[in-house]
Amino acid sequence: MKINKIAVVVGTRPTFIELAPIIHELQKTGIETLIYHTGQHYDNEMSSVFLDQLQIPQPHENFNAGGGTFSEQISTILTGCENLLEKDKPDLLVVEGDTNTAFGSALAAPGKQTPIVHVEAGCRSFDKSLPEEVNRVLISHIADVHFPPTPNCRKNLLNEGIREEAIGFVGHPIVDAVNLVKNKLHDSSKLGFDIERGKYYYVTIHRNFNTDNPSRLEHILHELSKMAETKPIVFPVHPRTRSRIQQFKLEKYLKNIKVIQPVDYVTSLSLTKDAYAVISDSGGLTKESCIFGVPYVSLRPNTEWIETLTGYANQLAFEKGNTIRDCIDRLDRNYDAARKTMRSLQVLFGRTGLSATIAKQISEWEVA
Ligand code: UD1
Ligand code: UDP
Repeated sequence: MKINKIAVVVGTRPTFIELAPIIHELQKTGIETLIYHTGQHYDNEMSSVFLDQLQIPQPHENFNAGGGTFSEQISTILTGCENLLEKDKPDLLVVEGDTNTAFGSALAAPGKQTPIVHVEAGCRSFDKSLPEEVNRVLISHIADVHFPPTPNCRKNLLNEGIREEAIGFVGHPIVDAVNLVKNKLHDSSKLGFDIERGKYYYVTIHRNFNTDNPSRLEHILHELSKMAETKPIVFPVHPRTRSRIQQFKLEKYLKNIKVIQPVDYVTSLSLTKDAYAVISDSGGLTKESCIFGVPYVSLRPNTEWIETLTGYANQLAFEKGNTIRDCIDRLDRNYDAARKTMRSLQVLFGRTGLSATIAKQISEWEVA
């Protein structure tokens, strides 16, 4: 069956970023491309700023699913998506990653006989305490077409019984996302944060594993406040984290940290490319740190990107009694080697033009 209409679901910061180049490429094929925005992220600096900067077309609908519990978000997204699939009757529904946005919308599709395309499929941390792990495993088992970002993710899909014929091209759109704004990146020392290139840490925190556990969040902020005595820290604070810091009364640890609102994509990439190291629990920043060859410290006990755990390029701060300080000490002692290893990992997330390949395969997929 020929594909005439595709619906693409966005709704969180990483989905805007990682689907933007695929949306552009789908539009070039001439196939009608509808954009559904779940509204899971809704503040200007978590949503509109990315739509503008990445030139994502105005979404056709917004489900206003922001805030609330897992079940509230899923039910709003499921209902919104079900209604639109009924009305628009797209030939395919494209979802990305592991957020409630992706899972809630994917759940609506089988009942409406709409095949699901899953971009960034097959990532696994094998840690079911993380809501993202549950979301992505379940999506894999209702999706019809899977685009794994790396050979390891492809292997994970095959190990779970996903048919080889249902797996598409292996690669990630992130390099193309970076390329969309690459010529706009700033010299980070000119951003007004009073930092020098290569002499600051770029920090983000948002996983509920870190934010919703008061003692863990306190431990992280305490460590960061000690590190900021020797090297500045720039910390754009995610809304979830901001509210937990207030709730647990942890503001005292932020006095010497450059705490700012979430930044736009150009600023985030500018801060990443010039950082001494990125310290974060973000999946997106893991990939971008690889692209720019900047060492990364994961504020996690595990990662889906296991290939990066080599030569101090990416260290797990909470693995086997490790601390953030241990990771930084090791990085200081092995910095040049760590940068070299990180640079050698640039190929992991592919190269320019993979979004076009993924979009072409999506647009030509033989829908049963
Ligand atoms: C979600 C994803 C996570 C992803 C992250 C990217 C799930 C389960 N989690 O986590 O995988 O890494 O997005 O950033 O889907 N809030 C605002 N304004 C906003 C957005 C959120 O104030 O624009 C507040 C709300 O109070 C909300 C809380 O932040 O309850 C958490 O937001 P939510 O979208 O539920 O989860 P994230 O932590 O953002
Ligand atoms: N990012 C951004 N502004 C910020 C923090 C992050 O633009 O203030 C970008 C970052 O460059 C990356 C993406 O957001 O591309 C990652 O999103 P997030 O960390 O929220 O989610 P995750 O990738 O962990 O799912």
